[in-house]
Amino acid sequence: MEKWNSETLRTNPLVEIGEFFNSRADIYNEVHVENIGGGMESKNIIASLLPENTETLIDFGVGTGLELAGIFKRFPCIKVTGVDIAGNMLEKLKNTYPDKSINLFCESYFNFDFGVSCFDSALSVMTMHHYDHKTKTALYEKVRSCLKENGVYIECDYMLSENDYENAQELEDFYFSEYKRLMEEQGLTGDSYYHYDTPCTVKNQIRLLTEAGFSSVSEVWHTGNTIILAANK
Ligand SMILES: C[S@@+](CC[C@H](N)C(=O)[O-])C[C@H]1O[C@@H](n2cnc3c(N)ncnc32)[C@H](O)[C@@H]1O
Repeated sequence: MEKWNSETLRTNPLVEIGEFFNSRADIYNEVHVENIGGGMESKNIIASLLPENTETLIDFGVGTGLELAGIFKRFPCIKVTGVDIAGNMLEKLKNTYPDKSINLFCESYFNFDFGVSCFDSALSVMTMHHYDHKTKTALYEKVRSCLKENGVYIECDYMLSENDYENAQELEDFYFSEYKRLMEEQGLTGDSYYHYDTPCTVKNQIRLLTEAGFSSVSEVWHTGNTIILAANK
C-alpha cells in the first residue's frame, strides 16, 4: 500500500474523499500520526480542553477515533456520537473501543441531522481542511445549534498560522485555486468532494466560526501546522 505525506496529499488524480479514506483505513493510524504537527500529542491534548461537565460529545469525521483514547481516559462514561463518511475507518474504531458508549453514523456530516441543543461538546479533528469557507460556515451554524447552552466546539486541524507564514493568505488562495484547476482539468463537478488539502489561515477560521454565531473563538494550542481552536456557543 502506498504511503502518503503532506505533499502527496495533493497528487493527481483527485479521489472522492470517502473513497480516499476507505482505501487507506488499514494504514491510516500509523501514517497519519507520523505526518502531522504534534503527532499523537495533538490528539491527546484535546481531552483536557473539553469542559469538566461533558457527558455527551459529537465528533465530526471521527475516523478511526485516534482522538477518543485520551477522551475516554478523562471521561470513561462519556457518550460519543461519531459521524464519518468512510465505513472502513469506522470499522477500525468499533474494534478499538468495543466497551464504550459510541453511536456511529456512516454518512457525510453535511447531510446529517445533528439536532438542536443535544450535546455538551462538539469536536472535529483533521477533517475540515478539505472544505471551502461557504461550506464550512453553513456546517458551523449547525454545529453551534446542536450544542447545549454553554457548549463548546473544539476544532483541531491543519491551518496556516500568520505567525508561521508571512504569506498565509496567499498560500490558502493558492491551494484553493489549485484544487479548482485540478477539478476542471479532470472534468469533475462540484457535486462531490475530493481529497485535496485546502487549509485556511487561522484568522479566516476564527472569522468563519464567529460568522456562524459562536460567541468567542480562540486559538488554544499550536504545533507546526496543527492548530486547535475553541469556540463557545
Ligand atoms: C484525516 S481523517 C481524521 C480522522 C480522525 N478525526 C483523526 O484525527 O484521526 C479525516 C476523516 O474525516 C472524514 N470525512 C471527511 N469529510 C467528511 C464528511 N463530509 N462527512 C463525514 N466524514 C468526513 C474522512 O472519512 C476521514 O475519516
